[in-house]
Amino acid sequence: MPLASIFEHMIFPIKNLLLYFLIYSFIVGCSTSIEDISSNVGVIGDSAMVASAHPLASQVGVDIMRKGGNAFDAAVAVQFALAVVYPRAGNIGGGGFAVIRESNGNIASLDFREKAPSLASKDMYLDINGEVIQGKSTVGRLACGVPGTVDGMYRLHEKYGSMSMSELIQPSIFLADQGFILTADEAQNLNRFQEDFKANNSWAIPTIKETAWQEGDSIYYKELAVTLSLIRDMGRAGFYEGIIADQIVKDLRRGGGIMTMEDLANYESKWREPVVGQYRNHKIISMPPPSSGGVALIQLLRGSEKYSFDNWGHNTPKTMHAMIELERRVYADRATYLGDPDYYEVPQEMLLSDEYLEERFSDIALNKKTDSKAIKEGIEGAIESVETTHFSIVDPFGNAIAITTTLNNYFGNKVMVKGAGFFLNDEMDDFSLKPGVPNQFGLIGAEANAIAPNKRMLSSMTPTIVEKDGRLLMLTGTPGGATIITSVYQTILNVIDHGMTMQESVNAKRFHHQWLPDKVLFEEGGFDPKVISELTELGHNLELIDGLGRMDCILVMEDGKLEGASDITRGNNTSLGF
Ligand code: GLY
Repeated sequence: MPLASIFEHMIFPIKNLLLYFLIYSFIVGCSTSIEDISSNVGVIGDSAMVASAHPLASQVGVDIMRKGGNAFDAAVAVQFALAVVYPRAGNIGGGGFAVIRESNGNIASLDFREKAPSLASKDMYLDINGEVIQGKSTVGRLACGVPGTVDGMYRLHEKYGSMSMSELIQPSIFLADQGFILTADEAQNLNRFQEDFKANNSWAIPTIKETAWQEGDSIYYKELAVTLSLIRDMGRAGFYEGIIADQIVKDLRRGGGIMTMEDLANYESKWREPVVGQYRNHKIISMPPPSSGGVALIQLLRGSEKYSFDNWGHNTPKTMHAMIELERRVYADRATYLGDPDYYEVPQEMLLSDEYLEERFSDIALNKKTDSKAIKEGIEGAIESVETTHFSIVDPFGNAIAITTTLNNYFGNKVMVKGAGFFLNDEMDDFSLKPGVPNQFGLIGAEANAIAPNKRMLSSMTPTIVEKDGRLLMLTGTPGGATIITSVYQTILNVIDHGMTMQESVNAKRFHHQWLPDKVLFEEGGFDPKVISELTELGHNLELIDGLGRMDCILVMEDGKLEGASDITRGNNTSLGF
């Protein structure tokens, strides 16, 4: 189809820019629907809630449910809206995972993780000496996996949707075409990546600006609006076949990319059995491999059961030490045993069995740390901070969905598809490029996560739903690469063990350990110097970090109302409900 005729697909039911600005001002100015930082309770809704990384995306989800749509309709609309208003991680050029609980208690999980192109090979990021070529798997056209998001949204809708796909995509087309106003954080983020945008796109793209972006600037993604219109009108074929697929392949070829039209046409998301575990009489429902998140989270929680964290206190040296020691062992397991179950026999049952966990955690001593190298040999690497994004939705019918979705790094591989207006992922870096050598998150992998054609790379994304006494209790999840699992773990302990509200749990300062590198990251401003010195005395190596995670969670309170809690202290995340 010629590009000119694509414009025939553009339909804007609401063309009034002024109306849009009024809606936006209402969202950011309405004190009853945005959390107050000093408040220890989040946003309360009678029956519906959306918690996401951006106020406009949360508003899109709420609008869909007000029109009678269910949580799954809202999730599709929010995912597409985030691709516009939160392009650092929201996406159509990436992938993700959804964990679902219907009002009748049925559970499911959807894997729309990216796949390696069919021409990928185990050593594709190694030089002739067998060493990893730095940057090749993180930036540019060889870093990209076959995107899963658009297929995932169509699969989700086909099984659970009640409104038309066209109604669900329309709000994102409107936002892309009519533009929106940048927050200070978004302007700063766009400024930070100007050099990368220019280096990887030799033509004008909407995120490049000669003078610095400022808070209050408007940004427009006109080409993305056209792409979204094609998807709306042609279904998944609008993305995986025809002009957009052609543009993706051509653009990637420009810089040594290996994705083919067949790779795109053949992409399929997969329904998988969620991983389920128990923690102090709560049912934990999370994402199975190819995410490591669910298995690792349940291992951590099961290991926590023998400790009295409630009596020991929140973020005290004793509680933190035990948690760190559990994390050390669980991340070593992650590196050894986890990968795409379609390619590698993941010993999930063994890893979650009582016998294995009893033995695995039996050498934890409460009076000294274990040396990570004594658990398993490894090589140290760096840890990066936030990327990826998570959202949680509950609808008035009682359905719940938690989605974590990613381009991997901020703005993925920094390549915006020419003429199509969206960023592609750099998810290939989540493979183990060379067993024993850490990726950008410092995570080490083994054969289980080696690169193979059409295989899915291991993830840490941990969208999770918690039930108590057979009823929905909590939805949680966050970005943060390797730190996702420990942030989700802490959020659950904060509510179940420490009796916090959802907002207190999200606000609470976090820490992280991942076996290697053998250090404890802790957030600035929340840990008593006495706690730090006691942990140091136990042998831990502590390091300050700016922030860990950007959670978007929902708690069903005892009276049945919903508490939406977004990470307002760490980002522009926003809960909105009714
Ligand atoms: N790209 C981060 C993750 O999937 O864990």
